[in-house]
Amino acid sequence: MIIKTLEIKNFRNYSSLLLNLSDKLNIIYGLNGQGKTNLLESIYLLGFTTSHRSFTSDNLIKSGEEKAIIKGKLQKDISYNLEINLMKTKKQVKIDGKIQTKLSNYIEKMNVIIFSSEDLNLIKGNPNERRKYFNLELSQISPNYYSALNDYNKLLKLRNEYLKELNLNMPIDLNYFNILTDYLINKSIFIYQMRNKYVEKLNKICPPIFEEIAGIKGFNIKYHPSINLENFDKETIKKTLEKAYKDHLDKEIRFKSTLYGPHRDDFTFDIDDNNLREFGSQGQQKMAIIALKLSEIEILKDFKRTNPIILLDDIFSDLDSNKKNNLLKHITGDMQVIITTTDLDSIDKKLLTTAKLIHIENGKIKETEVEK
Ligand SMILES: Nc1ncnc2c1ncn2[C@@H]1O[C@H](COP(=O)(O)OP(=O)(O)O)[C@@H](O)[C@H]1O
Ligand SMILES: [Mg+2]
Repeated sequence: MIIKTLEIKNFRNYSSLLLNLSDKLNIIYGLNGQGKTNLLESIYLLGFTTSHRSFTSDNLIKSGEEKAIIKGKLQKDISYNLEINLMKTKKQVKIDGKIQTKLSNYIEKMNVIIFSSEDLNLIKGNPNERRKYFNLELSQISPNYYSALNDYNKLLKLRNEYLKELNLNMPIDLNYFNILTDYLINKSIFIYQMRNKYVEKLNKICPPIFEEIAGIKGFNIKYHPSINLENFDKETIKKTLEKAYKDHLDKEIRFKSTLYGPHRDDFTFDIDDNNLREFGSQGQQKMAIIALKLSEIEILKDFKRTNPIILLDDIFSDLDSNKKNNLLKHITGDMQVIITTTDLDSIDKKLLTTAKLIHIENGKIKETEVEK
């Protein structure tokens, strides 16, 4: 798939921007702080409806403005006009001008993979970041996953609210609570199974890529559900969760919170059972993430029968040329790629001649480059 045009209004440091993109390689260049990452972020947001930048997503709307708009013309088997409106307290998405009430239908339309410096949080950050990542990836390939997760989160909120009201010293009516718990377990089953399948699939693709770029065998990704599951059969998951909730009701009431379920899962990136978070060098951690993202390209191609759009945010400057070439081998070809850099010299001359160059200065395309 290809994003043909991008239009942004009042997003980050952009007042108004209209950009035609090349179907192949696009290079956004400019000095630090000019808006290169913001531009990629707008494309990411158009696809996922949330930002990839975990810490600064409060400031998406240009300061002093009320509403940011991002629009893009997406071309795949047919074309779609995608649009996201961001307001202070809500967001709205549209396909071909029609407001979408179900985000699940929207999110699976445009598939984007970003490589950026934020990625290391996936290894270094807390489990929340990893869950968010796997949730988004699964939502891109399965609207049903997104719906199940959404339902799960609503039920979880209700169950937690109820747990806050329960008091061990008072007689309690557990009828409503038990019904909530049953519903929650039902939604959990699909989430556990999908996460497990996804990690199994990744482990077929990712280790050889890691070996190729890092020269190390034994890489794999592990899924750690918050309950001890012997297998991922429906009955096993149901029984195990039922038992966890039954055995630990007192504890949940004391903590006033649901302590078991997919919202407590984690994932690790390992070499021979050693977690890269503790045992890996920074370089190995980076290569693991690159291998992970390259595997995602394969998975998306497989599921969606079309190439995802690739965003590379300033990652060339700190890769040696060997790794750069390995990376490019996987992502050039017939994919649309959008790269940012402060330094055009860090990019291979041959590539440069085939690329569309976009010079960004202070939230605007620099005029001299418009015709390139
Ligand atoms: N909500 C906002 N309103 C106005 N400017 C913003 C907002 N959020 C970020 N910026 C500005 O965007 C610039 C950073 O842009 P960024 O895309 O990260 O730069 P780079 O080109 O280095 O990737 C900073 O100058 C920052 O002040
Ligand atoms: Mg940047």
